[in-house]
Amino acid sequence: MERSFQRSRRLGWAIVGCGWVARDYVAPALLQAGNARLVALCDPDSESLARMPGDGAVRYTRLDDVLAHPEVEAVYVATPNHVHAPVTVACAAAGRHVLCEKPMAIRPEEGARMVEACRRAGLQYATAFDQRHHAAHRKLRTLVREGVLGTVTQARIHYACWLPRDWAPRNWRIDPHQAGGGAMIDLAPHGIDLLEVLLEDEWTSLTALMQRRVHDYPVDDGAILMGRFRSGTLGVLQVAYNCPDNYPRRTLELIGTRARALARNTMGQTPGGTLTLTDAATGVETVVPISPEEDRSPFLHQVEAFSACVLEGRPSPFAPERDVRLLTLLSQACEPRSWEDAPCR
Ligand SMILES: NC(=O)c1ccc[n+]([C@@H]2O[C@H](COP(=O)([O-])OP(=O)(O)OC[C@H]3O[C@@H](n4cnc5c(N)ncnc54)[C@H](O)[C@@H]3O)[C@@H](O)[C@H]2O)c1
Repeated sequence: MERSFQRSRRLGWAIVGCGWVARDYVAPALLQAGNARLVALCDPDSESLARMPGDGAVRYTRLDDVLAHPEVEAVYVATPNHVHAPVTVACAAAGRHVLCEKPMAIRPEEGARMVEACRRAGLQYATAFDQRHHAAHRKLRTLVREGVLGTVTQARIHYACWLPRDWAPRNWRIDPHQAGGGAMIDLAPHGIDLLEVLLEDEWTSLTALMQRRVHDYPVDDGAILMGRFRSGTLGVLQVAYNCPDNYPRRTLELIGTRARALARNTMGQTPGGTLTLTDAATGVETVVPISPEEDRSPFLHQVEAFSACVLEGRPSPFAPERDVRLLTLLSQACEPRSWEDAPCR
């Protein structure tokens, strides 16, 4: 895959928001991608900027300055959630394509504004659902499409971590204004997107129950979401900030009439993990092989896929309006915000 990019033009990228995900996953992907190059970095915090890889990238503390850089064609938005909408709208006004971290925004109206701003300017917008690019998930999508699982009756995801108040020096994830909620808005968008992609189906309903069970902060520390797809398949997502990291807590299971697929440790930011199939007739579990060439960083696959769409002038297979629909579904899944009524400890 990398080889085919060798002679083609590389899309010029800037990253806006240079914290954890940008430093550890996005910048390394842009530095490695066959059809992209990291041109500029932007963060109001100069210490965060200094910690970023990419020696050749120009570093800015102001958004206006990075958007004035003539070689920046696309922007990866990796700021805290409440800044996604204004940064994306500013990028669109400056004529830059946008790949924005999940959740695309806190409120669906903001998401719609982001999509409209990019559409009107003739620019590409996508939400960075990197997990759909994980090699195991791409393989699983093929298996579902080929009917290997038979009729998928139920899907289940457990995606959780331990996130105390002092998890980061400036822990915006527990501030309702900056994050828009807690574990649910942070972790559920991945699974909501991923199940639609794997099943090639659409949620028709989604209901959530949230809790504030362990941590003493003003957002939910866990949630269970359940819903139905157009086909009739049922899906359950369990997400949490109150799950000790040593437990198995990154699993995805698709239960079919012919086989059950189980992906362990594939949800997250890194490649690897395992994918197995259990045969319905024999009960025998087999490992689905994934080649090392395919098993690259999901962020690398993601930036190459977005860059290819821009460079080739073709739309993404996933319309951005779909991301607004998913955010609407999520925000309506639990109203009023039920964790506010839930007892804390
Ligand atoms: N896809 C994934 O697996 C994944 C993983 C982690 C985070 N995320 C998402 O990425 C985003 C960032 O998360 P993080 O963990 O890297 O956070 P972080 O706190 O580590 O980094 C955020 C950075 O944004 C900067 N920032 C704040 N306001 C800004 C502004 N107006 N303009 C430019 N920069 C600004 C901060 O100074 C900080 O350096 C969030 O939306 C989060 O949900 C996604």
